[in-house]
Amino acid sequence: MAKKVLPPQTLLYPVPVVLVSCGELGGKKNVITLAWVGVVNSEPPMVGIGVRPSRYSHELISKTREFVVNLPRADQVKAVEVCGSTSGRTSDKFAATGLTAEPATKVRAPLIAECPVNLECQVQQIVNLPSHDLFLAEIVAVHVAEEVLDGNGQVDPLRARLLAYCNGQYWQSATLLE
Ligand SMILES: Cc1cc2nc3c(=O)[nH]c(=O)nc-3n(C[C@H](O)[C@H](O)[C@H](O)COP(=O)(O)O)c2cc1C
Repeated sequence: MAKKVLPPQTLLYPVPVVLVSCGELGGKKNVITLAWVGVVNSEPPMVGIGVRPSRYSHELISKTREFVVNLPRADQVKAVEVCGSTSGRTSDKFAATGLTAEPATKVRAPLIAECPVNLECQVQQIVNLPSHDLFLAEIVAVHVAEEVLDGNGQVDPLRARLLAYCNGQYWQSATLLE
């Protein structure tokens, strides 16, 4: 296979694209679109999110040390774009997108009612990297819409119609390889 050598870049495919809700339900709350997100530990279950210090969400998450990772559906791309192109400093993204903030069970950050999967997270560690800060967080509660579960109680990607991201484009998961 002939290959080209490209400059160093974040070429991973696919990566999820998520809506992270943060702040406090009864106070300042916000939603940010993130693609730099991934599972980093199993016991306890943990995720890492990379957030630029300039983001308003960075300020809120640093303060409360809590957030919720919400997995959007393919038909929520518009909300994903709005939350990824406007700042909560100057606009209420829940109002702008029509997304509903609901109480979580273990954290003060709201979860997004319309997303079929919500992971409540508590920050354990913050790693300062050159462009982003990496928030390493434990998943302390999980919510899944019953309609996206299969007969074994697992999330069925076809029913959930979750989003993936590659090279600035949104893709809908998934084709099952037999
Ligand atoms: C598809 C997509 C993925 C993004 N991923 C990240 C990311 O991983 N980290 C980050 O800091 N910003 C990311 N952004 C940019 C933020 O979502 C954007 O700057 C947002 O307006 C910041 O909102 P805030 O100021 O309300 O926190 C992404 C934007 C899009 C559209």
